[in-house]
Amino acid sequence: MLPATHCAQPERLRLLSALTAERRLDFWSLPSMVKLTFIQPDGASQSVEADTGATVMEAAKQNDVPGIDAECGGACACATCHVYVDAAWVDKVGTPDPMEEDMLDFAFDVRKESRLSCQIKITDALDGITFRVPEKQF
Ligand code: FES
Repeated sequence: MLPATHCAQPERLRLLSALTAERRLDFWSLPSMVKLTFIQPDGASQSVEADTGATVMEAAKQNDVPGIDAECGGACACATCHVYVDAAWVDKVGTPDPMEEDMLDFAFDVRKESRLSCQIKITDALDGITFRVPEKQF
C-alpha cells in the first residue's frame, strides 16, 4: 500500500494546476496602457497614457487635461466631463445609456458624438482614440 502522502499527489497537482491557471488569468487581466488624445477648442493637443479599466474622465483628471471639470467625481450627475468622440471612433465607444443621455441634456453644445467621459470605460479597443473638449462645460 502506498503512503497517504503519495495518494494525495493527484489532488495536490490538481490544486497546483488550478492555482497556476488562476494566477495566469490574473496576469492577463492586469490593466494595460492605451493612448488617449484630447484636443482643446484652440487646437492644442494632449496625448496621455491611461490604464484600461479606468474611465476617460479619470485619465483626463490624472493628466490635468483642461476643460474636464468632473465636478461630481464620475457619478453621472453633473455633465462637466462632456467630450466629443472623434467621428472615426464613435462606433467603438458606443452610445450613451438613458441616464447619461438625460445628463447630457445639461451639457453645452451637445452633438451626436457627445459623451460624458466618466461613462466611457477605457479598453484596449480604444487605444489611439481622440476626444475633443468643448469650449465650455456649461
Ligand atoms: Fe459628473 Fe461625468 S463627472 S457627469
